[in-house]
Amino acid sequence: MSGGESIREILAREAAGGEATVRGWIRTARHSKGVSFLEVADGSCFAGLQVVVDPALENYEAELRPLGTGCAVAAMGELVDSPGKGQRFELRARRVEVVGTVDPDYPLQKKRHSFEFLRTLAHLRPRTNTIGAVLRVRNAASRAIHAFFQERGFIHLHSPIITASDAEGAGDMFRVSTLDPSNPPRDGEGRVDFGRDFFGREAYLTVSGQLEAEIAALALSRVYTFGPTFRAENSNTSRHLAEFWMVEPEMAFCDLAGDMDLAEAFLKQVFRSVLEQCPDDMAFFNQRIDDSVIATLTHVIETPFERITYGEAVEILERSGESFEFPVKWGADLQSEHERYLTEQHIRRPVIVTDYPAAIKAFYMYLNDDERTVRAMDVLVPKVGEIVGGSQREHRLDVLRRRMRDCGLPEERYGWYLDLRRYGSAPHAGFGLGFERVVQFMTGMANIRDVIPFPRVPGYVDF
Ligand code: 4AD
Ligand code: MG
Repeated sequence: MSGGESIREILAREAAGGEATVRGWIRTARHSKGVSFLEVADGSCFAGLQVVVDPALENYEAELRPLGTGCAVAAMGELVDSPGKGQRFELRARRVEVVGTVDPDYPLQKKRHSFEFLRTLAHLRPRTNTIGAVLRVRNAASRAIHAFFQERGFIHLHSPIITASDAEGAGDMFRVSTLDPSNPPRDGEGRVDFGRDFFGREAYLTVSGQLEAEIAALALSRVYTFGPTFRAENSNTSRHLAEFWMVEPEMAFCDLAGDMDLAEAFLKQVFRSVLEQCPDDMAFFNQRIDDSVIATLTHVIETPFERITYGEAVEILERSGESFEFPVKWGADLQSEHERYLTEQHIRRPVIVTDYPAAIKAFYMYLNDDERTVRAMDVLVPKVGEIVGGSQREHRLDVLRRRMRDCGLPEERYGWYLDLRRYGSAPHAGFGLGFERVVQFMTGMANIRDVIPFPRVPGYVDF
């Protein structure tokens, strides 16, 4: 028992007629006098297949009539044109096997459940229409991401998950340790002695694969990473996860303009592919979650992104007449309310904000001649806000050293990073795309916890 035709493949057949076997889980069962209808889904596509069951089947009374939502079944029969609307074919069953019954307390009975409730059932929620569609969109987006870079000759780099360096210099890392927390070894001064920990020094889960991508880009020219990243920031919002997936391209001999061009082409191609690959899932999101998602994506694909500097953004916000919770002034980071005003109200499409103040950005960004701003860029989109963050990197050894000193980063920990500036340094640039933010944007899902199979957030790590 393996493989066989999926419902996706069955529904793609040219015409009705012939045998088909469907294996999956019952979404709904309707039993009436002369006939039972089972809607069976196998997750291969949004649609299920209607199985028509004749009470004359020998196991009908004992096994099939009791069937309800959630049971696993295998049905064999003839594929016929469906007289019902909304479906091309149905299966006229000659045999239905009950593969797995459902206990009466099955929590996903056919009715609407809140997403909060479904999060407590992360082991069952992939069977719901919404989460199933999210998982297929994630898959299609992931495939589109690899296709985009592979078509352009980028080399996929597998950056490490356990690391000794803080790539963002922001300090919000999870420690990786095998020391006994109740009785760790201590040094002469009474501090925990991480020299006796598993790696012989302090280690963490990575916040970004960027620094390793820079190493690879300065040898292979164009590379990208696509992996899980971790942030121990205590952000309980609808856009933050403690574990999320990030895509990070890095290009040698590239400046900020080239970096922005890549980000724009990349987002557009990913959106286009998902619309093409998942039309039914996207139609569902448009109908049930957010009736503007398809129009928004289409508009984004067709129009150029706006590009403004941070200074211009601050002026726009100051002139807006809006009363923001966080005051706007040059030097302060843009808050999500500011980002949303810019992209939703003022510009009404994606906007790339560049040249942020050096003081609010990471140490590795290229310092502009004004000495106050860096060649950073954030791509902002309606509803989600920042979806991409990137920069041209500081490739001048002396300036990088100065920036690291100003940021309080110990040079001895980043010796290898400085080496890249000593041995054949070259201008280079890259960005990081938050994969879940993209899936959120494409699906219109309000909370980022509902676009990842197993969300990890402060105070919550079930499953
Ligand atoms: O802006 P960030 O912090 O940039 C970096 O990590 C750079 N090293 C990337 C690079 O240049 N290679 O993160 C990049 C993106 C953000 O724009 C956002 O989309 C996403 O990652 N992101 C998060 N997504 C979900 N939960 C969080 N806590 C996130 N933090 C960042
Ligand atoms: Mg950022």
